[in-house]
Amino acid sequence: MRKGLLTIAAVGLLTTGSMTACSGDSGDDQASSAKTPKIGVILPDSKSSARWESADRRFLEEAFKAAGVQYDIQNAQNDKTAFQTIADQMITSGVTALMIVNLDSGTGKAVLDKAKSQGVATIDYDRLTLGGSAQYYVSFDNETVGKLQGEGLAKCLTDQGAKNPVVAYLNGSPTDNNATLFKNGYDSVLKPKFDAKEYVKGPEDAVPAWDNAQATTIFEQQLTKANGKIDGVLAANDGLGNAAISVLKKNKLNGKVPVTGQDASTEGLQNILTGDQCMTVYKAVREEAKAASDLAIALAKGEKKDTGQTVKDPEGNRDVPSVLLTPKAIYKENVKDVIADGYVTKEEVCAGAYAKLCADAGIS
Ligand code: BGC
Repeated sequence: MRKGLLTIAAVGLLTTGSMTACSGDSGDDQASSAKTPKIGVILPDSKSSARWESADRRFLEEAFKAAGVQYDIQNAQNDKTAFQTIADQMITSGVTALMIVNLDSGTGKAVLDKAKSQGVATIDYDRLTLGGSAQYYVSFDNETVGKLQGEGLAKCLTDQGAKNPVVAYLNGSPTDNNATLFKNGYDSVLKPKFDAKEYVKGPEDAVPAWDNAQATTIFEQQLTKANGKIDGVLAANDGLGNAAISVLKKNKLNGKVPVTGQDASTEGLQNILTGDQCMTVYKAVREEAKAASDLAIALAKGEKKDTGQTVKDPEGNRDVPSVLLTPKAIYKENVKDVIADGYVTKEEVCAGAYAKLCADAGIS
C-alpha cells in the first residue's frame, strides 16, 4: 500500500562503513568511542505547521522506540532563548547526539558549535543551518518541493482557464533556508511565465517565522494592493495557504483562486477536498525521522555512514553529508495516498461535513 508512494524516497539510503578515528581526522574525532545512544531533538514550534507535533514527534518516537534508544524530544515554541536553554540542558544531561530544526542559522550555529565542542554529535533535521557544523543534514529535496508547488499552481490555473493570471506569493520565513529553496523551485517554473507575459507577477511577501496569523494580514494587504485582482496564490505551506483561503472566503473568492500548500496537513487536505486549495506537497516524515534516527544512533556507536550525497552550505563553504528524500504533489485525486501512508487518519480528514467529500474523492 505504501509502496507506490515511497519507492523513490527509499532510494539511496544508507550504507555503513566502519569508522576509522585516526590522527588528523578532524571532525570525526567525537565518534571515536562507542557510546550508548541518547538522542536529543529540538523541534522549532507548534504553530507554523501542524507537522512538528503531529508527525515529526510521532515518527521520531516511533523510530527511537523501534531502535530501543533513549531520547528526549522538546519543542522551542519559536523562542530562540528557549532553544538555546533546551540545547544546554540536553548537553548537560549527556545526550550523545543532538538533532535540531533551527529557528534561524545564527542561533542554530551557536547550538551546533557548542554541542560539537562538548563531543556531542549533531544533525540538522529538515532545515540546513547555514555556516553550521552539523555532521549530517536530513531533509527532503526542497527545491523539488517548490517546483511541485509552481507546477501545481500552473496546472490549476490552466484547469480554471485563467488568462494572464495575477499570481501572488506568500513565501516562508526569511530566516529558514528551506523557504529560500522552495522559492528557487517555484520561481524556476513561474518566472519564465512572468517573463513571457503569460502570467503577471502580483504582490510578494515573506511571512516572518511562517506565522499563519500574520499571513492573513499580509494577504489582506496583498489583495487590497492588487485591487482584489489576484488569480492564484503560491503559498509556501498549508498554514499560509489556509490564511489566504480565509481572506478569499471573506471576499467570496475561495475556490475561484487556486492556492498551493505543503505538508499534507489535515486542514490542507480538507481544503483540497472542498476545492478551496489546489494542491499540497506530501513529505513522508516517517522516512525523514527514520533516516535521522539511524544516523544519530550510528554516530553514537562510532560508526560513519555514507549517505551517498552532499549538500553545499554556501555560507560555511562545505559539503554536508545529506539524506534528501523525495516529495510528492497531492491533488484531490490522490489525497487518499496520504491517508493510506498512515500520515493522517481517515477519521481526522473525513470528519463531519468532510465525509461526503471524502467518499467523492474515493477515500473509503
Ligand atoms: C518545513 C516545512 C514547514 C515549515 C514551517 C519548513 O522548514 O520544511 O515542512 O511547513 O518549515 O514550519
